[in-house]
Amino acid sequence: MTQEQLCDYLELYRDLGIDMIYIRSSAAKSRSTPAPAEPVAIPDVVIPGLAPEGDTLDQIRLDMGDCRLCRLCEGRKSIVFGSGNQRSPLVFVGEGPGADEDEQGLPFVGRAGQLLTQMIDNTAQKEGIPVRRGDVYICNVVKCRPPENRTPLPDEMEVCGQFLFRQLMAIKPKAVCALGSTAMKALLNTKEGITRSRGKWHKWHGIPVMVTYHPSYLLRQYNQQAKREAWEDLKTLLHFVYD
Ligand code: URA
Repeated sequence: MTQEQLCDYLELYRDLGIDMIYIRSSAAKSRSTPAPAEPVAIPDVVIPGLAPEGDTLDQIRLDMGDCRLCRLCEGRKSIVFGSGNQRSPLVFVGEGPGADEDEQGLPFVGRAGQLLTQMIDNTAQKEGIPVRRGDVYICNVVKCRPPENRTPLPDEMEVCGQFLFRQLMAIKPKAVCALGSTAMKALLNTKEGITRSRGKWHKWHGIPVMVTYHPSYLLRQYNQQAKREAWEDLKTLLHFVYD
């Protein structure tokens, strides 16, 4: 790659909101398993921006290939890219695949996914909005299952975030729903916790973002109040997008 092309790529990533990239040390390159990444700040280069014009989900998935950019590739069975309507005005963003998702290669197909489906389908039906889960697009911050379902690490979110950013840029939805604090942190520059941020509108590159609780959190029995709040959030979101 020429220096000019490299500059263009760095500028593109900065336009996409990515201000850190990670490179593996040359020693690590020769190992079969990826080493922890080293953060490198993108220099403040002033060159014409390279807009990802005509970017598509298919192209992004092609670019991911058999991605080995972070350590999460080591234990995954599948890359869980996203599913649903590619032209949806509404995108849900979760944290990362769990065991069922890793097995099937699809997001939100386990218990939390079933709850998410119910939440979307039932709320829309009650509100008289003709929308079902299959009508929206669903993806995650990281596309590979973190070991033991741990929270993705900052460098994993940063590296995989480039694909999420491109997905959102390509779909250009009317609104995004951030499910839980990992999605919230990936999309929003906020120091607030989820209980304060939920139910409010935020912005990601000009696109309205509604933050709500992650369905896994809602599956805990004592969370009746949180469940009611999440249903309220969804109502607000669906009316905003589809009225
Ligand atoms: N939890 C997530 O955040 N994403 C999934 O795809 C499944 C469970």
